[in-house]
Amino acid sequence: MTDAPALYPVPPDFAAKARIDRKQYESLYQASVDDPASFWGGIAGRLDWMRAPTKIKDVSYRLEDFRIRWYEDGELNASVNCLDRQLDKRGDKTALLFEPDDPAQPAQKVTYRELHRRVCKLANALRNLGVRKGDRITIYLPMIPEAAVAMLACARIGAIHSVVFGGFSPNSIADRVSDCQSKLIITADEGVRGGKKIPLKANVDAALKMPGTNTVETVLVVRHTGGAVDMQMPRDRWYDAVVDGQPEECAPERMNAEDPLFILYTSGSTGKPKGVLHTTGGYMVYVSYTHECVFDLREEDVYWCTADVGWVTGHSYIVYGPLANGATALMFEGVPNYPDSSRFWQVIDKHQVTLFYTAPTAIRALMREGDAPVKSTSRKSLRLLGTVGEPINPEAWRWYNDVVGDGRCPIVDTWWQTETGGILITPLAGAIDAKPGSATKPFFGIRPAIVDANGKILDGAAEGNLVLLDSWPGQMRTVYGDHQRFIDTYFKTYPGTYFTGDGCRRDEDGYYWITGRVDDVINVSGHRIGTAEVESALVSHPKVAEAAVVGYPHDIKGQGIYAYVTLIAGEQPTSDEGGDELRKELVAWVRKEIGPVATPDHLQWAPGLPKTRSGKIMRRILRKIAENAPDQLGDTSTLADPSVVDALVKNRLGK
Ligand code: WTA
Repeated sequence: MTDAPALYPVPPDFAAKARIDRKQYESLYQASVDDPASFWGGIAGRLDWMRAPTKIKDVSYRLEDFRIRWYEDGELNASVNCLDRQLDKRGDKTALLFEPDDPAQPAQKVTYRELHRRVCKLANALRNLGVRKGDRITIYLPMIPEAAVAMLACARIGAIHSVVFGGFSPNSIADRVSDCQSKLIITADEGVRGGKKIPLKANVDAALKMPGTNTVETVLVVRHTGGAVDMQMPRDRWYDAVVDGQPEECAPERMNAEDPLFILYTSGSTGKPKGVLHTTGGYMVYVSYTHECVFDLREEDVYWCTADVGWVTGHSYIVYGPLANGATALMFEGVPNYPDSSRFWQVIDKHQVTLFYTAPTAIRALMREGDAPVKSTSRKSLRLLGTVGEPINPEAWRWYNDVVGDGRCPIVDTWWQTETGGILITPLAGAIDAKPGSATKPFFGIRPAIVDANGKILDGAAEGNLVLLDSWPGQMRTVYGDHQRFIDTYFKTYPGTYFTGDGCRRDEDGYYWITGRVDDVINVSGHRIGTAEVESALVSHPKVAEAAVVGYPHDIKGQGIYAYVTLIAGEQPTSDEGGDELRKELVAWVRKEIGPVATPDHLQWAPGLPKTRSGKIMRRILRKIAENAPDQLGDTSTLADPSVVDALVKNRLGK
């Protein structure tokens, strides 16, 4: 691949019609950083406000007067922006296009009028059940239109939703429900992905037996597969039954711009997942504007983001951004390789998808299946491709470009985080030449910087940690229930800046290359897993004395989970071969404790772990062993017992 181009210029015909061309990007970017308040004040006009904001930006990252406020005297309702205001012009336009897991089942089209009706009915039902502004509602649903309906119904009445991904276990549901004290849960009988059933209602039942969850008064159950479920009256209610007969109009709550819209739990380097809180005004301005600019959105586009609504990508770029823009968004219940690995491309042809947004891990997995499953489809409708969630290796980028896009669709590699609400670093397809593997340049208003270990800002071509020097409207406002943790996590490491947790290189052209997490977060197939979470799941097993978990490079997933486990005395397997049953048991244990997303790929028995004399586990060394780079262990002389390292290297798995 050495002769492959390093630069892919903006296609001239794309640039000619693009919303934003090179000159516009440069002048708008300059304006946005020179005077953020007037820039974002202008952009706010894209929303319908009940009261237009006059105070645009009030931000300080300094610890002594820390605050982040955008549009603080504005009032609006997110569901009105996604629904009511579309009705005049787009009432009969498809808002959500639902493609079920089983291709033999019919697809569904939900128009803006129908979506409005369904959201209002559920919102009325929720009010009848006693839900009020500020109450927390947990949503644990498959990728079906009801997931979007549920989010928007919460937004309509000012309830704060917390969507929990369907791949999380009862334990993880319970943790999240108890952290935000949910009053009500919306779930379904079962989910189905790749032909396999997921017992959602049964998982909720199990979660609600756990401590800390007795704030939940009601569970609404969507009948989806028709599978048998236990209904515990009066707590459990069929969704259809409570929604039936509700009025089709529902007065929206007036929300202050800084009132919470949702909480979304995400993993950090320490402790339990934190509840990232996003507010209403700034978030809606930011996701709608980025969605329009980054995807070069047109009225007739059919836009498909393959993420799950359980992650931030689904929140911002399936539900809130696209619907606020009056777009047609496809929701796909299934997986890329079911019934076969041509499914994505078949769905693109079937629904004439024009904008396609997916994750590098999916691209790599499909690339492995060869070109034939792609080539057997037309994909002529496509005009732009996007990626998100993890760094994309240039080889996968080129395959996406050459094979999926037939070399005619620009690619936007979008870097952002749950915390950032929306996309921060990305090419704009009509303005910025692409380099495979680089997220390229900052979006309007975004001021990235690279710092060294001491926090010194580096100029020019440089490598270090990625920080952001100023705020943008979509930034998270707090960790739910723990504002100090918010400040400590993001604003203390490099004072005066927001620390992303990512490493990054900037090249001589000012392009940004994200190199991956520099903290103890593992990015597995674009899903964030905290090493501390997996460790605490492992040590909660009665036979485990100690565990250390690190990420290692994985061909398809980007990173895999590598666990080192020390058993309690008497449980030591004599050799690796002897410990297989127990190994399986521990892997199953982690799946049960956290969910299938956190399944360890490797579990190595560790008679001892490398520790400093003060007892701190040296993960740097464990990472190198997991990477199979024993020659790069570096200085091990500060270890309490250097011999444990030799034993671990000798018994490394998969050699
Ligand atoms: C990583 C997902 C490289 C990064 C929207 C970040 C990326 C973490 C990219 C956030 C990208 C996301 N290139 N790395 N285009 N996009 N990441 O919160 O490490 O699930 O910090 O948000 O994913 O993951 P999260």
